[in-house]
Amino acid sequence: MQDLFSSPAPEPDLAHLEALKRSLHEHAHRYYVLDAPTIPDAEYDRLFKALQAIETQHPDLTTPDSPTQRVGGKPLDQFVSVRHAVPMLSIKTETDTEASGAENFDGRARRELGLDESAPAVEYVAEPKFDGLAMSLRYEHGVLVQAATRGDGEMGEDVTQNIRTIGQIPLRLPGTVPPVLEVRGEVYMRRDDFERLNEKQRERGLKTFVNTRNAAAGAVRQLDPSIAAQRPLSFYAYGLGEVTPVEAGGPAFGSHFEMLQTLKNWGFPVSELVQIARGATELVAYYQFIGAQRDGLGFDIDGVVYKVNSLVLQRRMGFVTREPRWAVAHKFPAQEQLTTVLGIDVQVGRTGKLTPVAKLAPVFVGGVTVTNATLHNEDEARRKDVRIGDTVIVRRAGDVIPEVVGVVLPAEGAERGALFTMPRSCPVCGSAAVREAGEVDYRCTGGLFCSAQRKQAILHFAQRRAVEVEGLGDKLVDQLVDCNVIKTLPDLYRLGLTSLAGLDRMADKSAQNIVEALEKSKQTTLPRFLFGLGIRHVGEATAKALARYFGKLDAIMDAPEEQMLLVNDVGPTVAQSLRTFFDQPHNREVVAQLRACGVTWAEGPPAPVLATPFSGQTFVITGTLPTLGRDEAKDLIEAAGGKVAGSVSKKTTYVVAGTEAGSKLAKALELGVTVLDEQGLKELLDDHS
Ligand code: IVH
Repeated sequence: MQDLFSSPAPEPDLAHLEALKRSLHEHAHRYYVLDAPTIPDAEYDRLFKALQAIETQHPDLTTPDSPTQRVGGKPLDQFVSVRHAVPMLSIKTETDTEASGAENFDGRARRELGLDESAPAVEYVAEPKFDGLAMSLRYEHGVLVQAATRGDGEMGEDVTQNIRTIGQIPLRLPGTVPPVLEVRGEVYMRRDDFERLNEKQRERGLKTFVNTRNAAAGAVRQLDPSIAAQRPLSFYAYGLGEVTPVEAGGPAFGSHFEMLQTLKNWGFPVSELVQIARGATELVAYYQFIGAQRDGLGFDIDGVVYKVNSLVLQRRMGFVTREPRWAVAHKFPAQEQLTTVLGIDVQVGRTGKLTPVAKLAPVFVGGVTVTNATLHNEDEARRKDVRIGDTVIVRRAGDVIPEVVGVVLPAEGAERGALFTMPRSCPVCGSAAVREAGEVDYRCTGGLFCSAQRKQAILHFAQRRAVEVEGLGDKLVDQLVDCNVIKTLPDLYRLGLTSLAGLDRMADKSAQNIVEALEKSKQTTLPRFLFGLGIRHVGEATAKALARYFGKLDAIMDAPEEQMLLVNDVGPTVAQSLRTFFDQPHNREVVAQLRACGVTWAEGPPAPVLATPFSGQTFVITGTLPTLGRDEAKDLIEAAGGKVAGSVSKKTTYVVAGTEAGSKLAKALELGVTVLDEQGLKELLDDHS
């Protein structure tokens, strides 16, 4: 109520208010949909606050389509059911993942259209099949009035409050749109947003989401819109529901593609991957093209959708039950499957690291049969709460190793196995297993006493990228270690024909081959030998850099940590690990014996080069840094061997962002490029100086 004695709020300038709203809508569209903002975030915030101030003084001027009204709805007790004015259909699914999947659809379409072989190719629109959930957005006179889920196709749920929080969805459309307009499309979560969300969940000790679709569905079905607002969602438009008919002044589209272009012009996100395809050949090409891009896209898709482009032809083809005859969803091979956990094994790595591995009932996923999936470490296994007997979702995308993404919630009250606990002794040698402070891994303390570590140390030394002993595989190494023929690495070179030929299933010829391969492996190079020793944190590149810098093995073995730090690629962890290794008399003894057995390499003069820690790395500086000027920051980076570029791309290593950082920062976040502030840059430089 207006207090009689306080001065009345000033008369609002309606034209100014309208201009503010229009400007904010415009910039939100540029930011969220076009990904090309033209003002800094701070300027957007300033405009936003100005509008908020006016609306606080004149609440009656606040309209539902105001940019301030995206968040702020009250929590609901339940969702209200709504009837779709035009039912939301589903599409026939083609699971044949060969070219024939597309060819069959084209064949059917031609038959239904009565086209003979001489008739020209049918024109289709090919689109990604987004892996989210279908949404119907209803606009009346250009204002978003309702967002509803698909439900059973006839009745859905009103989730307007949650959908308003999606920046990509316009709250208000340009004046040219028809009075009634229902836009249909997919609400989904980008992969980078998903990763960030799960990271946050982990930090807060909350359960992580299994995949982007579940995360998106969970957000849409949140009763509290303030929670939904914290779950970053995106949207792609792909169709229409009820629209003012042509006779009543509605739009007259000739084709699906034309309709999508119009939706884009009205401010809706339409995927850049949508294409026109003529005939089966181009459908197949599209399927393969998108299939090849699949793992690199910013979002999950589970196939592609083909639609007859001409709306006249679509009408002629009509529907069978709830599915249009003019469209089909051509699926890709599944990247997720359900299976059962048969057991949880603990494996011992080369450096003694204990890794829990889920043993799974064999399942075909992402193109291979999976029987094992790493659970990484105890914390991860417990966080995922994977237990023996559980039904789990296994995912294998691209060439990534298969992983258990989550447990399918067991029925309430169902008996479950015990929560995983890492054994406190090594399952192979019985030595104590310890987890050092600040580490996630337990390690077997048995060292080369542990046969598991010995086996892997030998395999590591004998691998192609190390000294390479051709034909020395894991089966043979298992036997050699289990029969106690090999206790230390040098024993490898003491193997005689007789001891080899005496092993199970070892033909004379193979024994001879191994002896020859061992002989050949003695002529090696310093980097291969050094890498082959299996020192923690010393990979191939580091071994090469050390060899180049020091020239001789003895020089490396005796170098103090400070000197090692001068080598490109060597930081404190690596230097300490090298020192620890070579300070142990038994390791020096192994090296001496290998040399005594005749393992040799050429040694060169030392080639000390100044450390250029940033060589090969590209930086982009954006915004204002608190103390460093642009040029100063650039000089520092370049002095350390780095490059400074003007724009962000996948090749960018770091983005250094200060205040008022705008689109470059957004782009970095979108691409998942690491972002540093000035302090972070300085620390990076310090780490290497
Ligand atoms: S068109 C009449 N296009 O797939 C056709 N659907 O059953 C109506 N979907 O849950 C759908 N990407 O949410 C269409 N480019 C796309 C799509 C798509 C994903 C989903 C849709 C629905 C299911 C189809």
